[in-house]
Amino acid sequence: MTWTELATEVVDRKTRDRAVAHMRAARVVLPTFAELADPATIPESVAAELSNVDADARQPSNLFRVHWYNDERRIDRLAVPSYIELPERLTGVPARILVALGRNFPMIAAHKVLAAYGCLVPRIVTGQFDPGHQRAVWPSTGNYCRGGVAISRILGCRGVAVLPAGMSEERFDWLKQWVSAPEDIVRTPGTESNVKEIYDECAGLSRDPANVILNQFSEFANYLVHYACTGPALRAVFDDARRNRPELRLRAFVAASGSAGTLGAGDYLKAELGAKIVAVEALECPTMLYNGYGEHNIQGIGDKHIPFIHNVMNTDAVAGISDRSTDTLNLLFNSKAGREFLGARLDLDPSFVRSLDGLGLSSIANVLAAIKLAKRLRLGRGDAIVTVATDSAGLYASEARKFESARYPRGFDTIDAGEAFGRHLEGVTDDHLIELTEMDRQRIYNLGYFTWVEQQGVPLADFDRRRDQDFWRGLRGALPVWDTLIEDFNARTGLNRPG
Ligand SMILES: Cc1ncc(COP(=O)(O)O)c(C=O)c1O
Repeated sequence: MTWTELATEVVDRKTRDRAVAHMRAARVVLPTFAELADPATIPESVAAELSNVDADARQPSNLFRVHWYNDERRIDRLAVPSYIELPERLTGVPARILVALGRNFPMIAAHKVLAAYGCLVPRIVTGQFDPGHQRAVWPSTGNYCRGGVAISRILGCRGVAVLPAGMSEERFDWLKQWVSAPEDIVRTPGTESNVKEIYDECAGLSRDPANVILNQFSEFANYLVHYACTGPALRAVFDDARRNRPELRLRAFVAASGSAGTLGAGDYLKAELGAKIVAVEALECPTMLYNGYGEHNIQGIGDKHIPFIHNVMNTDAVAGISDRSTDTLNLLFNSKAGREFLGARLDLDPSFVRSLDGLGLSSIANVLAAIKLAKRLRLGRGDAIVTVATDSAGLYASEARKFESARYPRGFDTIDAGEAFGRHLEGVTDDHLIELTEMDRQRIYNLGYFTWVEQQGVPLADFDRRRDQDFWRGLRGALPVWDTLIEDFNARTGLNRPG
């Protein structure tokens, strides 16, 4: 189950034909990668149909909402992805920090539904997944498996979520509503950083040919969908911010690494705009920084290993952020006392303060890493850093309650808010930030050997060839081929929409 070579032609015609019949019956038209990258190219007829569909409904047309351009109500399409720009009063740095908001994605209110679609659709159109007879298994720490289950249900197939039992209640509540059967939620031991346990469970499940494991940590389609869709979406955000400031330069793209899929957008932004790529991890589990390990609460990231799809040799810096900071700032941004402090003391507009609820725990980590980088590089007003909010505070209300009662048993008050701001925002330094030398990159890359070659049995040559940037450039050739296969697939269902 560890990894599968990218297929760029139909591998099994019978399976592909069964999938065509299945999608015809389920009335599913599949969007292309190009359409999700630039939804303005989605035919008007589809857009018109969508205006009557709830973004969280199990409706096939919602596949056409799996992109960055949904408005806040998730009904209309925006010209520029929804984003917030963080003011210097909050960050303490003059550099522009632009955060694209993932919460407007349909069904799961997080961008991981894009990764899930990106991983499954090439399998379907190449005849490597039979939606009527096989189960799609989604190993994850919570958001990818929710995205996978949502996509599976829309396509009328079984989706199995495999995730650590210690993830947030909100994730499990959502899954209970969406899976076809309770046994389609498989709980593995531990929390965030226990990915090995997830792999072990999947190894067992993969013995049954009815289970197809879509391992986000090793599916190159995950890298590619972010390269194709998230990269250009972030470029559109940067272009928008630059509209009245033509001198603005994109200096960096910052993203916390779970599967390292999102970091794929960095390869696009580096190639197009010269942005540095900064990978973020939890300080309590500093795998890239210090070859370390440990437990933490920045849900979705930091899994004690180097994902197979991480283009390590193209990564420029690594930053470690403590979960103490993310948990505390989650309270600062989302509590009454915290919001009052931000409004009254920092003179921030109340609607801006409310918009900070668009940041989930890993998003706060991204912002803190961006601040660190801005401090290290002494970035100024003409410099921009883009990052993503994979999900929002909406998924962590229970975590905020738990943290508040453990850390502030008498409740989080305005003094606590001031202390939280001073310590975790104003007090950010450039510690635990490495600008990677060639030797650092080799060290991080080589660490992956123990997971992928020794533990998961990947042939050494397949492991080693990812050092070369030509390998990654070569992968991108799959994107237009998959789009042609998707168009051909849609034509075969006979449901193809008017152009
Ligand atoms: C909340 C959250 N943040 C960040 C990430 C990391 O994204 P990626 O897996 O693309 O590296 C994930 C992944 O599941 C996530 O759920």
